[in-house]
Amino acid sequence: MSDSTSFFNQGTAKGAADSIPEIGIGMLGYAFMGRAHINALKKIAYTYWPPPLMPRLVAVAGRSEEAVSEAAHRYGFERSTTDWRDLLDDPSIGIFDNTGPNNQHLEPTIAAARAGKHLICEKPLGRTADEAYEVWSEVEKTGVKAMTAFNYRFFPAVRLIKSLFEDGTLGEVRHFRARYHQEWLVDPKSPTSWRLDKSIAGSGALGDLGSHIIDLARYLVGEPQTVSANLHTFTKERPGGHVDVDDAFDAMLTFDSGALGVLEATRVAPGRKNHMRFEISTTTGTVIFDQERMNEIELHLAGSEPAANAQGFRTVLVSEAYHPYWEHWWPHGHMIGWEDSFVHELGHLLEAIATDSPVGPHGATMEDGYRVAEIVDAIVRAAETGTRQEISFRQLSA
Ligand SMILES: NC(=O)c1ccc[n+]([C@@H]2O[C@H](COP(=O)([O-])OP(=O)(O)OC[C@H]3O[C@@H](n4cnc5c(N)ncnc54)[C@H](O)[C@@H]3O)[C@@H](O)[C@H]2O)c1
Repeated sequence: MSDSTSFFNQGTAKGAADSIPEIGIGMLGYAFMGRAHINALKKIAYTYWPPPLMPRLVAVAGRSEEAVSEAAHRYGFERSTTDWRDLLDDPSIGIFDNTGPNNQHLEPTIAAARAGKHLICEKPLGRTADEAYEVWSEVEKTGVKAMTAFNYRFFPAVRLIKSLFEDGTLGEVRHFRARYHQEWLVDPKSPTSWRLDKSIAGSGALGDLGSHIIDLARYLVGEPQTVSANLHTFTKERPGGHVDVDDAFDAMLTFDSGALGVLEATRVAPGRKNHMRFEISTTTGTVIFDQERMNEIELHLAGSEPAANAQGFRTVLVSEAYHPYWEHWWPHGHMIGWEDSFVHELGHLLEAIATDSPVGPHGATMEDGYRVAEIVDAIVRAAETGTRQEISFRQLSA
């Protein structure tokens, strides 16, 4: 590109800012994901320009008065509350952003939809498929825009891979292999937390890390049909109590399309930080994505090599203005990070609200959140019974 100013999305017209409607954000939770969402909401105005809607940080809800008011001050919310229900009565709030732990997804999300708030809810949508189904079916009745926060869909490289399927570059899928490895529970002395408590989290590595790769399998390959699996808890007692969720799982899937899938996730892989990687082999080529190298894909297209003795994978740097989401960013090669997937995710939700367009297929809907939870439940059943399980999805009742 010759004109470097065209790398920067400078907006369409002088005075555009005056005509951008605001939308108020009410957030439940303000820790890891709360911070990631706030960071993204603050970036929207200087990445997307003009943004579809201008987010306004109205109120944040937590449990402790002192901690939540400090969070409001730190992040720039106008006020804080210790009761998330307060957010629902506030007419200046248009989006309820649920970044609470998994046991806080069901009731607040449904109540917010009933109060007419648009929604984004962190994954997994429910602790069980029953719970996620209830969220989906109750939210659907209200007609609000609603998204399950599967942010990996919003990595430019992942969206580029999706487009390589859409334009036929990548053919019929034969294999989907995905792993999501972390190390933070390697030390048996590291204490319990809500993530290790089934009554709060629903499951362990499976619902936490596995749900992301299950979502990507559905997004990129299609619906799985059957599954066999192992779930394992290596350390059952930790400081703070008994652990009743899995540390790790692996699963073998068949897909409706005939493709085969292998998934695994763990919290006890020494050296692995946030190692989410998938490899998809198709009839025309193989593509690889590695979250820790998030601005690249590795691609091999059968028969495309210039010389027979120089075949292999090539690395594509995903940072051109014509690559997904890069119109909002920097000159090519000036890279973006994990946190920016949330900018794209929340930007997508704002666009859906502003233009009354659907959240799917690129954003994860509530139905997507439910379907992932149904697959999570099937993996648990398969592991507990030692049998291959059929995966079937419920429809909304009439
Ligand atoms: N998309 C991703 O990549 C990703 C990454 C991490 C976590 N998550 C999901 O985000 C959600 C939150 O995880 P986190 O890592 O931010 O957890 P966290 O423990 O860092 O934060 C949870 C927040 O919820 C608040 N909270 C807890 N119980 C509450 C209650 N009863 N009422 C009001 N507020 C309450 C806490 O004060 C805290 O601010 C989980 O569902 C998790 O699975 C998603």
